[in-house]
Amino acid sequence: MIKSRPALSIPEALSIDKQHIWHPYSSINAPLDNYLVDTCKGVRIKLKDGTELIDGMASWWSVIHGYNHPELNAAIHAQLEKTAHVMFGGLTHEPAIELAEKLINVSPDGLEHVFFSDSGSVSVEVAIKMAIQYWQSRKQPEKHRLLSLRRGYHGDTFAAMSVCDPETGMHHLFNEVLAKQLFTEAPQCKFEDEWRDEYIADIEIQLKTHHQSLAAVILEPIVQGAGGMRFYSPRYLQEVKKLCEHYQVLLIADEIATGFGRTGKMFACEHANISPDILCLGKALTGGYMTLAATLCSHEIAQTICAGEASCFMHGPTFMANPLACAVSNKSLELLFNNDWQAKVNNIETQLNSQLAQCRDLPNVADVRVLGAIGVVETLAPVEMAKIVPLFVEEGVWLRPFGNRVYVMPPYITTNAELFSLTEAMHKVLQKM
Ligand SMILES: Cc1ncc(COP(=O)(O)O)c(C=O)c1O
Repeated sequence: MIKSRPALSIPEALSIDKQHIWHPYSSINAPLDNYLVDTCKGVRIKLKDGTELIDGMASWWSVIHGYNHPELNAAIHAQLEKTAHVMFGGLTHEPAIELAEKLINVSPDGLEHVFFSDSGSVSVEVAIKMAIQYWQSRKQPEKHRLLSLRRGYHGDTFAAMSVCDPETGMHHLFNEVLAKQLFTEAPQCKFEDEWRDEYIADIEIQLKTHHQSLAAVILEPIVQGAGGMRFYSPRYLQEVKKLCEHYQVLLIADEIATGFGRTGKMFACEHANISPDILCLGKALTGGYMTLAATLCSHEIAQTICAGEASCFMHGPTFMANPLACAVSNKSLELLFNNDWQAKVNNIETQLNSQLAQCRDLPNVADVRVLGAIGVVETLAPVEMAKIVPLFVEEGVWLRPFGNRVYVMPPYITTNAELFSLTEAMHKVLQKM
């Protein structure tokens, strides 16, 4: 029998955590210290020891409306009274139907079919399978490879890993088992750069040379996130879209990180006014409440896949379209549109631009850039996470840099004063480093 145990002291709880639990990219032999969370409300994370932190990470881009939001809580409670989960094979439910309709309405034109899955990485797996099955159905099975951008990040599962940057990703570790994909250089143009045709020279050569074996190009539109927080020109995306059409290669847009307003547009593809053939969504889809992802595709792709040898799309996870996750996503989308997300993100962008500018003068800073509700300070040398995170905690903020990117991506409800605390802490801590 497993008995419920008496409440643990903070050191006891952290010690069990350290001994037994994997955290993202963590070592069991040399674990970093974790902070024990008690409650979260709005943009504040309250630790068990009473410390309050202003969250500048939105729990990895996802908590756009803040924590413990009364309307999101109510949406989950209401659905819980009906059913927490039910299988999606042979059964359907209103939260999924409503969400599919909403996503089709708000996403770029031409996307008409939705496949729900459990996480961003899985939605990328699904997108890749869709692209491969599409060409199989068109009797061109040789078109099964992916062309991806260096510095890209698409998740940690196997197909997703195969299209992540081959150097910063995990390719050398899993070399023997990863699908061999093709890579083009990371976009060399910044978001605001004047266009030069040389920016697409490399991808053009790759497409020209390899289109007969390519199922799709996969990219993060406008912002390459976890692979370097790089912003590139909308014109690059427009040109890639044209090249994909010309060479008959599908375009997969991974908007898992950029979707739902983060870059200043509802979807980053809108900066370039293009529609992808396949779109991956996740993270902020549920307002950061639960894990849910969606892969959308055009009618032509869906019906071609289903006219092929298998007569169906070959995927079907157990927790597909979980009703709680769909219900909270519906409410999150409602909150987004009813509360002028655009004005909020624009306001964050303006403030980040003016307040992070002071970091440019620091001797250890290489670049400062802002797009929508994303502010990045790139340092000359990688920062040491074990040293910098406690300094931020001392300043009362939650920021977790990686490599040489110290960045802030706050919930959209962050007030001017809270954002000021975040940017001041970034400046102060970078000054100390
Ligand atoms: C662009 C992009 N794609 C895919 C993923 C993977 O999503 P998940 O962590 O939900 O599997 C991420 C996660 O950071 C991401 O930023």
